[in-house]
Amino acid sequence: MTVETAAQSAYIVAALLFILALAGLSKHETARAGNALGMAGMALALVATVALAAEHGIGGTAASLLVGATLVGAVIGLDRARRVQMTGMPELIALLHSFVGLAAVLVGWNGYLQVEGDLDGAEAHALRAEEMLGIHHAEVFIGVFIGAVTFTGSIVAFGKLSARMKSAPLMLPGKNMLNLGALAAFALLTVWFVLDPQLWLLVVVTAIALALGWHLVASIGGGDMPVVVSMLNSYSGWAAAAAGFLLENNLLIITGALVGSSGAYLSYIMCRAMNRSFLSVIAGGFGMESTTPGEVTQGEHHEVTAEQVADMLAEADSVIITPGYGMAVAQAQHGVAELTRKLRERGIEVRFGIHPVAGRLPGHMNVLLAEAKVPYDIVLELDEINDDFAHTSVVLVIGANDTVNPAAEDPDSPIAGMPVLTVWEAGQVVVFKRSMATGYAGVQNPLFFRDNTSMLFGDAKQRVDDILAALATRSQTGPTLTATG
Ligand code: TAP
Repeated sequence: MTVETAAQSAYIVAALLFILALAGLSKHETARAGNALGMAGMALALVATVALAAEHGIGGTAASLLVGATLVGAVIGLDRARRVQMTGMPELIALLHSFVGLAAVLVGWNGYLQVEGDLDGAEAHALRAEEMLGIHHAEVFIGVFIGAVTFTGSIVAFGKLSARMKSAPLMLPGKNMLNLGALAAFALLTVWFVLDPQLWLLVVVTAIALALGWHLVASIGGGDMPVVVSMLNSYSGWAAAAAGFLLENNLLIITGALVGSSGAYLSYIMCRAMNRSFLSVIAGGFGMESTTPGEVTQGEHHEVTAEQVADMLAEADSVIITPGYGMAVAQAQHGVAELTRKLRERGIEVRFGIHPVAGRLPGHMNVLLAEAKVPYDIVLELDEINDDFAHTSVVLVIGANDTVNPAAEDPDSPIAGMPVLTVWEAGQVVVFKRSMATGYAGVQNPLFFRDNTSMLFGDAKQRVDDILAALATRSQTGPTLTATG
């Protein structure tokens, strides 16, 4: 068997492993196995690629360069992965997407310079002989365009997620026309380039795509950022697939298509969960009103102490905890799990209500609660728990804000129509946060000013520990409490 055949066979096995990895990652019970399969597939793909490079490279230079670059990348990647906080994961992912975009741009430019830039060269001759030159031109142009959009779009997403840029949407006049104009220009230039490839056309399309990627994501408000991250994931997949066509690498085409389509499907599911139109998010906030967020009537808020919350909980029949980003920042999940155990020991029903975009990445809260050993069966999705708030004694909103915001029911609000956990229907609501600041979407929350809402200010972990301490004293002295196990 030649190296070429062995490598192509390894690519097929790697592609199958990637498909199995995606299947494994769709359920938390099999996610670890899914990850392992994906890693095995990638290791196999890397070995096959190095072997191919050694076979075709001149004097092994290509293979040595590839191995060197892979080692440097692996060291940086391992270090970043070890140090990244769960809350910093989306911005790291956004940054990684920008690399895929940049790589696709470089592969496209290289494809042009290698073939069209050297029309007397052997590659151009071979392509012309096969009458494939037109297709090659289109591949270069489309690959560069998708790659450049992904590159700048991901950099803006990184900036917004890491708070280096403001999360409010950029509202340029006629922004939808700018986006549509850029797409129309791309379509026209593609035809031109296929018929008459010239370097300046490639320069122009690169510039248009860089500007479009920047503008698309800059126009999207903070509340829609989760969809943007998965959408850029999808774009990075298509960029990789385009690079795969140019490099005639089947595995890159398959992997790119898997990432592209699964990212697009995830974006669609998230849009449905947030009641956003897929097309309007993709078009960069198309149709979004320029309402200034945060201008919602305020009122008086009511403050409580951890001791008062402990009293409230000791008297409750049922409690629902709705965690959010603040629980992750405070790393309060272990205290919350301990509180859950203590309350359940007292015979109080405790459940969790998880919003699909609570935190900063899909499944963020589920991962934290699983890590703290909260039983899966009391962790419920929004649809499963929303009807139960009305029959619940106390809701603890721990570091969540946008996901419990009744302003979503106001048609003029920037988060209008987003499904939220209807915590205000419960008997009493306690909101754990450090100040009256707004959440990620920058929208004020009328929940804080409701009669049945109390604010427990301070770091969520500290406050949960205070409640645990207060409950411990009550269990020693409280005559009515019985442990049911
Ligand atoms: P947010 O609306 O971001 O609210 C989090 C709250 O936690 C803030 O109001 C903050 O108030 C509080 N907080 C922060 N640190 C805290 C600490 N140490 N102790 C106590 N409280 C603390 O969170 P959410 O309700 O989870 O909603 C998620 C938001 O992020 C949505 O807008 C969503 O669209 C967006 N988003 C989600 C994702 C995914 S996929 N989940 C990805 C990107 C963006 P203080 O500052 O006053 O403490």
